[in-house]
Amino acid sequence: MDWNKKHIISIKDFSRDEIDYVLKKSALMEEKLKSGETSSLMKGKILANLFFEPSTRTRMSFEASMKLLGGQVIGFDNASMSSEVKGETIVDTIRVVSAYSNVIVLRHSVEGSARLASEYSEKPIINGGDGANQHPTQTLLDLYTIQKEFNTIDNLRICIVGDLKYGRTVHSLTNGLENYDVKLRLISPMELRMPRRIIKGLREKGIEVEETTKLNLRDCDVIYVTRIQRERFPDPQEYERVKDAYVLDLKTINNIEDDAIIMHPLPRVTEIKPEIDNTKHARYFEQARNGIPVRMALLCLVCNVKF
Ligand code: CP
Repeated sequence: MDWNKKHIISIKDFSRDEIDYVLKKSALMEEKLKSGETSSLMKGKILANLFFEPSTRTRMSFEASMKLLGGQVIGFDNASMSSEVKGETIVDTIRVVSAYSNVIVLRHSVEGSARLASEYSEKPIINGGDGANQHPTQTLLDLYTIQKEFNTIDNLRICIVGDLKYGRTVHSLTNGLENYDVKLRLISPMELRMPRRIIKGLREKGIEVEETTKLNLRDCDVIYVTRIQRERFPDPQEYERVKDAYVLDLKTINNIEDDAIIMHPLPRVTEIKPEIDNTKHARYFEQARNGIPVRMALLCLVCNVKF
């Protein structure tokens, strides 16, 4: 695959070999970071972070990654201070910013916005999350975290809990997991089930999928919990009905596998009680930390910087 100037829009655009290549390069980047060999890889290059929706991890880890690579960062984290408020279209914004930068990370509430941006950008676009659709770099760091833990992704039993309708991280993750030999248990309220097109795609790939509303966490290697996405509910009353559907506490995880890990893309609200944070199962803060080597590797790959 030619990575130079590749847009990273959807995890579905990646083959298994390509995902595995990113995971391998991320591990190499993590080693190089530890040995202090990364600080001038992107010297003279500029990342533009265009965040039309709030973010802590994605925006700041891309910024930290670019700085750790010796590059610079421009952009905004508050679109109300950009010319969008004067009526500028995203297409015009991208055309202009792609002339100011070497790579662009875009987060936007509209599904398909990153794909649209990629059609008008001279520089690689990295999708930092488009509405409830995709969050491919989150998936890559999720898969990196799982592989680091188990040394494989194949043959794992993965349970995904929470808002499977509006959560872009779980849409991306299940699309990514289609490439591996895994068993999935999807736990959600009926009204927040995984979209049928994703279930159909998983079954066509031969993935064993169980869907349930019961919080059954037994017999799983990975328990991936997500927040109920309040901001995407058209009806606030519907959110109130389901917001506390699943809450993991010490009692709930009492009977999980001894070596099971609990992941969460964060931010969390009430779905994982802080009492779990110091158990041997919690991996969500390490998962967020893994965003650094993965995003550093991706920045270098799409900017054709060898490492
Ligand atoms: N996981 C994630 O996308 O977090 P942020 O919304 O803080 O970027």
